[in-house]
Amino acid sequence: MHSVRKRYRVRRSGPLRGSVRVPGDKSIGHRSLIFGALGRGASRVTGLSEGLDNQATRQAFRSMGVVIERDAEATTIQGVGLRGLRMPRDVVDCGNSGTTMRLLAGLLSGQRFGSRMVGDASLTRRPMSRVIEPLRARGAHIAGTAGAKPDELYPPISIAPLVEGEELKGIEYKMPVASAQVKSALLLSGLYAAGPTILEEPVLSRDHTERMMLSLGVPVQTAGASVVLDPNEDWAGGWEPFEWHVPGDPSSAAFPLLAAAMVRGSEVSVQDVCVNPTRTGLFDWLRLIGARCERRPSGHGAGDEPMAELRVTHASIRGSIAGGELVVRMIDEIPAVCALAATSAGKTEIRDAAELRVKESDRIATMAQVLGAFGVPCEELPDGLIVTGGASLQGAHIDSRGDHRIAMAASLLGLVAEGESIIDGAEAVDTSFPGFVALMRSLGADITEETG
Ligand code: S3P
Repeated sequence: MHSVRKRYRVRRSGPLRGSVRVPGDKSIGHRSLIFGALGRGASRVTGLSEGLDNQATRQAFRSMGVVIERDAEATTIQGVGLRGLRMPRDVVDCGNSGTTMRLLAGLLSGQRFGSRMVGDASLTRRPMSRVIEPLRARGAHIAGTAGAKPDELYPPISIAPLVEGEELKGIEYKMPVASAQVKSALLLSGLYAAGPTILEEPVLSRDHTERMMLSLGVPVQTAGASVVLDPNEDWAGGWEPFEWHVPGDPSSAAFPLLAAAMVRGSEVSVQDVCVNPTRTGLFDWLRLIGARCERRPSGHGAGDEPMAELRVTHASIRGSIAGGELVVRMIDEIPAVCALAATSAGKTEIRDAAELRVKESDRIATMAQVLGAFGVPCEELPDGLIVTGGASLQGAHIDSRGDHRIAMAASLLGLVAEGESIIDGAEAVDTSFPGFVALMRSLGADITEETG
């Protein structure tokens, strides 16, 4: 999907100051497009990110006959109803987006047409058995591709149609890992199933799909880390179109906010950020470790998602231990947390984060290498890292490994390192945070972007 290579040059920067907005939340963006496409008529969504991951989902629906238009204010999705999608014109290219592929795996399993999904090099290395196995268990004709590990399946994914009279079955499934992608794939397939979808996670993962279903009148019930969707429960099927606003992405807001926590004299605020409790692990943890982080509520967005202004003021921070449910609620922010750990006093220990090994890169191994390159002592654990803060950082030459959050976390380290840092493969940032460099520069960061 990326035709142009980008390189960042970052130098040690003075205090960062200002108030900014970040692109719309990526997870909520994918789901707004999905629920808009399946609604009965034209839905209007504001705040949707122009990041490449959300664009991959938008393109997938366009190829299934859904008209989606964007003007300066909003994205309009001409929903075709639950049964109105057409067979994709071509293979569905999910680019770098695991969420697109896994959520659509569920949705497409319930259709009466076949489909095939592919991804870029990074996505093609990501495990897909976690969605393929439970979808097969409920009767989907879905296949993955053999790859690095003999007992795992990878993209491309092929789905054969359900034949006339054939339906997906109900499923009761205890999920082995907390994963909103797996949960959402099963809930979306559950819209087409003859029986209920009953799911239990070890810890509640982000619950945007459940919130949206509830707000659209889909018969879903939640209790803690359990969710039940029973489409037979007095439900006519389908929903009316909606007008939703996508709140700012807390996983993107983490970068300017943690930059403020790292650079002496800084104060940065980000407006209208999604503060759904399944996403606020980082901000809860910042308070625990003595960072100055304030939150002011600013209304609600799509599917009743709470929003707030978040403000971080620089203060000296002591490293601490993060594990368990807190880590599930801050899983995408761990690369940025590793950067913060480099400037905190003492050790920061991240545990229970083995899922990081199967993200856009192996984020445990990649962050350990990035920290090492900047001169930060770091120990890699099977399920996390121990970072020793307080060393004086040297500028480094980093490759993003095609991972947006590695490129941005390395940029934060560059802001506090001696000399110049170079970050290659920075085009990956466009998947989630178009405008990252302009935003950081507006706050006073010494970062430039070169293309070619
Ligand atoms: C996402 C779920 C998480 C997260 C990813 C987005 C989603 O992945 O890391 O960036 O939108 O459902 P897992 O489901 O693999 O935990």
